Amino acid sequence: MSYENILLEQPENGIYLLTVNRPKVLNALDGPTLDEIAAAVAEVGADEDARVLLVTGAGDRAFVAGADIAAMRDVTGAEGKAFSAKGIRAFRSLELLPVPAIAVVHGYALGGGCELAMSCDWILASERAAFGQPEVNLGIIPGFGGTQRLTRLVGRARALELITTARQVKADEALALGLVNQVHAPERLMEEALAMARTVAAKGPIAVRLAKQSVQRGQHMDLDSACLLENDAFALCCSTEDKTEGMSAFLEKREARFRAR
Ligand code: COA
Repeated sequence: MSYENILLEQPENGIYLLTVNRPKVLNALDGPTLDEIAAAVAEVGADEDARVLLVTGAGDRAFVAGADIAAMRDVTGAEGKAFSAKGIRAFRSLELLPVPAIAVVHGYALGGGCELAMSCDWILASERAAFGQPEVNLGIIPGFGGTQRLTRLVGRARALELITTARQVKADEALALGLVNQVHAPERLMEEALAMARTVAAKGPIAVRLAKQSVQRGQHMDLDSACLLENDAFALCCSTEDKTEGMSAFLEKREARFRAR
């Protein structure tokens, strides 16, 4: 499938790279871009050989500087509801992508950009990254899931402070808050992300998918239901050839050759 506002590439076997590609507006998200993100996520999700998705923004200034303000200025309440719902659907599909998604953030991740990054399974940031939910500056609130995901990631008090003051958080503070997993020098960021993607891609593919599913689905369940989900996923792993191969490789002191079976 061809895209106008994003790039979807496969730099290595099983590793996809989605780049939001509107650098003139710091990769701001309008409706068509959200549609393309959803379509790309569906494309990756349909590929049984997919192992990891990296998500980034074009240019060196921004990951994504938010929803497109020019596209939003004149929207009505009903249109705003539809735009927000489109973003929520697209980002939820990313969160539920069967394979891990890693946000690679090298500049501004503001508003919808912060929300896009938080919809990935975890975030790698450059030392020059800046995160924030500045929507109240514009008389709106986060509308692509930000009030919920930021709260779940950093806690209610910190989320509300950031959302109501619109304060930007630099990479080191984002790391301390638990918003990002790692911070790297700008010139090393993509190589570190690819190295991490390779590490994940080399593991048992069925196990990685089931681990993601257990964590992402289970975190919104009560503990007993979530542990049952894990219990079933564990049983499914035990029925795979990859489990026999992984354990045999350990006992025979060799590398495992997983075949996603
Ligand atoms: N929507 C639409 N256009 C945007 C945008 C957004 N969210 N963010 C940046 N742009 C555009 C600017 O209008 C500008 O376009 P122009 O060259 O035609 O004037 C271009 O991207 C570059 O941005 P600029 O503001 O000139 O860069 P800067 O380095 O001075 O500031 C930011 C960078 C990110 C601090 C600033 O662009 C900003 O605050 N953006 C909005 C962030 C925001 O509120 N996001 C939440 C939206 S709900």
